[in-house]
Amino acid sequence: MERIELENGFEIPQIGYGTFQLKPDEAYDNVRQALENGYRLIDTAASYRNEKAIGQAIRDSGIKREEIVISTKVWVQDAGYEATKKAFGRSLANLQTSYIDLYLIHQPYGDYYGSWKAMEELYDAGRVKAIGVCNFCAERLLDLTLNARIPPMIDQVELHPFFQQKRLRAALPATCRIEAWGPLNEGQRNIFANPVLEYIAKKHHKTAAQIVLRWLIEQGIIAIPRSCRSSHQKENIDIFDFALDDEDMQEINSLDLGYSEIIDHTDPLTVRILNTYHIHE
Ligand SMILES: NC(=O)c1ccc[n+]([C@@H]2O[C@H](COP(=O)([O-])OP(=O)(O)OC[C@H]3O[C@@H](n4cnc5c(N)ncnc54)[C@H](OP(=O)(O)O)[C@@H]3O)[C@@H](O)[C@H]2O)c1
Repeated sequence: MERIELENGFEIPQIGYGTFQLKPDEAYDNVRQALENGYRLIDTAASYRNEKAIGQAIRDSGIKREEIVISTKVWVQDAGYEATKKAFGRSLANLQTSYIDLYLIHQPYGDYYGSWKAMEELYDAGRVKAIGVCNFCAERLLDLTLNARIPPMIDQVELHPFFQQKRLRAALPATCRIEAWGPLNEGQRNIFANPVLEYIAKKHHKTAAQIVLRWLIEQGIIAIPRSCRSSHQKENIDIFDFALDDEDMQEINSLDLGYSEIIDHTDPLTVRILNTYHIHE
């Protein structure tokens, strides 16, 4: 597994395992399976409500804690300095660990400057190895970068061949890496049977999913595909023995729609829904 170095020198695997929408029992079984299949980066969030099961799966795996990169996120309900510190304590307890490797602001709403200050302090105290954000567009990311003492090291955003985030990537601060969520477009738009991806897959004796993930990592992007099938988990990590050529890259680049078909963070309805989604009292 190839690793990628963040701004502070902390290295994380370039492919991780995503756990969105996995209920606790599914999360437990699939994280155990993913760890057995070689994954060493596990992505969760307080709002996924599966941190406890994932903490248990990591503990039961018998793999040393320091060999696994755990990533979790503070939900918008816990935006702000004090609330983020409390939320961090809850995530730590749920995950049964004394530190988090990668702690992220989940949504670009609410008092995320207050959250960031709390996260900088957690970082200074060694409670987190790296800090970052999710779903920040170019302007918000740059503004936080310019105003923070420690700039965000990761922006976890939706990114796949149909939504390539060209605007964000063109303005990406040098201190920040991109981590792709929904790297397989959540299976939508018939991505696994896309003719361009299938053609390239055939050429390299790989699958369409592997072509997409390879396309991401060749651009220095971290990807966290989710799969509840062991065969898919293995497939998604088996992408380090081939390379795409310039023509392949250009063909995939041409698939960009320039917008998301999953979520629009600039839509007032999205802002309202995410701000009112509560994960605790
Ligand atoms: N920060 C955020 O706001 C945010 C938002 C969404 C997601 N995320 C993170 O990003 C992770 C990944 O995104 P996602 O879960 O939304 O979607 P995804 O990884 O793009 O897609 C998951 C879907 O792809 C299928 N799949 C996976 N590998 C496959 C393969 N090799 N061949 C065929 N089908 C395959 C899975 O089905 P099978 O189970 O049948 O394989 C599943 O239906 C999440 O789990 C979560 O950790 C973060």
